[in-house]
Amino acid sequence: MIKHPLTFLFLLFLLQSVWGFEYEEKELESEISLRKLYKRWSRHHNLPLNVTKQGVNRYKVFKINAKYILKINKMRLSYSLKLNRFANLTLSEFVDIHTCISETKTMITNSTDYQLTDVKPPESVDWRKQGAVTEVKNQRGCGSCWAFATVAAVEGMNFIRTKRLVSLSAQELLDCSSDRNNCTRGVRRLAFEYIKTKGITTETHYPYKAIKGLCDPLKKKGPRVTIDSYTFVPKNNELALRRAVARQPVSIGIDPTSPSFRFYSKGIITGKCGTVLGHAMAAIGYGTDKDGTKYWLVKNSYGPEWGEGGYVRIERDILEKEGRCGIAKRAIYPIKTPVR
Ligand SMILES: *[C@@H]1O[C@H](CO)[C@@H](O)[C@H](O)[C@H]1NC(C)=O
Ligand SMILES: *[C@@H]1O[C@H](CO)[C@@H](O)[C@H](O)[C@H]1NC(C)=O
Ligand SMILES: *[C@@H]1O[C@H](CO)[C@@H](O)[C@H](O)[C@H]1NC(C)=O
Ligand SMILES: *[C@@H]1O[C@H](CO)[C@@H](O)[C@H](O)[C@H]1NC(C)=O
Repeated sequence: MIKHPLTFLFLLFLLQSVWGFEYEEKELESEISLRKLYKRWSRHHNLPLNVTKQGVNRYKVFKINAKYILKINKMRLSYSLKLNRFANLTLSEFVDIHTCISETKTMITNSTDYQLTDVKPPESVDWRKQGAVTEVKNQRGCGSCWAFATVAAVEGMNFIRTKRLVSLSAQELLDCSSDRNNCTRGVRRLAFEYIKTKGITTETHYPYKAIKGLCDPLKKKGPRVTIDSYTFVPKNNELALRRAVARQPVSIGIDPTSPSFRFYSKGIITGKCGTVLGHAMAAIGYGTDKDGTKYWLVKNSYGPEWGEGGYVRIERDILEKEGRCGIAKRAIYPIKTPVR
């Protein structure tokens, strides 16, 4: 039904900008095609060629990553990887930049809330279908995952209680919530504590800048969303997490150091993964794949080009109680009583 050729080109452009950098597997196979691919990748990301930042030849790093991705994809696992915008980084650089929570000291009290057995979670949940999830955000060069994971959970809760879906301001949390919350690292509990006492305004009133600034009292005057409280999901308990997610989107922490997470393209992340929490996202559902693999449906804040349109599926109900990549270790969600 596309009549005008320009419309077609425009659609193609749109697709490109949403789905980003496309390439074929065979381009990873030879040195010549790999060099060409590196040029194309650099152009796509507006990067100069041959940058040797920190004394590292970026093409070499790209090549190592490309070889790894090719190897994994040839194994035809439950997930596949791709050269995304992290393809120019070594693992330690990625971990440095993208470790954005400091929550290793677990001080989790035994919350009994979602241990309640009267909650019978359905077979599958996808909060996007209820309209409780805003568009995928991009934290960009700032380690503000803790802020995006927090707003995603509060946006969901707010929608469930008020039937209004509004994007909330991650920037307000970055600027105002705590001195300990910045572009290096943050503590989700402090972000929830801030919203509990002060509320939070919308993304429109206090837009994201990917840099920590001074708390702006004028922008804070926009409409505010409130919560009554927040609580942790009983730790290392995937059933408790499932009960929580069945009720509302939940902020979760994971270990981001596995390459299967960094270069994730699509499918369900299975296999070896650490459990040292370094990244936060929002679990917005769960389900079971056609082949029987159970998964968590998780909203990331790396923009829509990453993963499955900005989302990732991570294996669910595994033997290790921490869950795949530590997903069940430290989950937290807001509480808001129904408005009468
Ligand atoms: C960039 O790297 C390629 C291959 O390593 C080399 O042939 C070329 O001369 C380099 N260009 C610059 C501007 O350094
Ligand atoms: C890696 O690529 C990203 C864009 O995807 C860019 O922002 C970043 O500066 C690059 N880092 C290095 C060390 O070249
Ligand atoms: C929490 O509950 C678990 C199991 O119900 C129990 O083993 C543990 O001692 C409790 N921890 C605290 C701090 O109460
Ligand atoms: C960010 O906060 C952490 C404490 O949570 C602190 O160690 C770090 O120095 C801060 N970084 C910046 C750039 O202010």
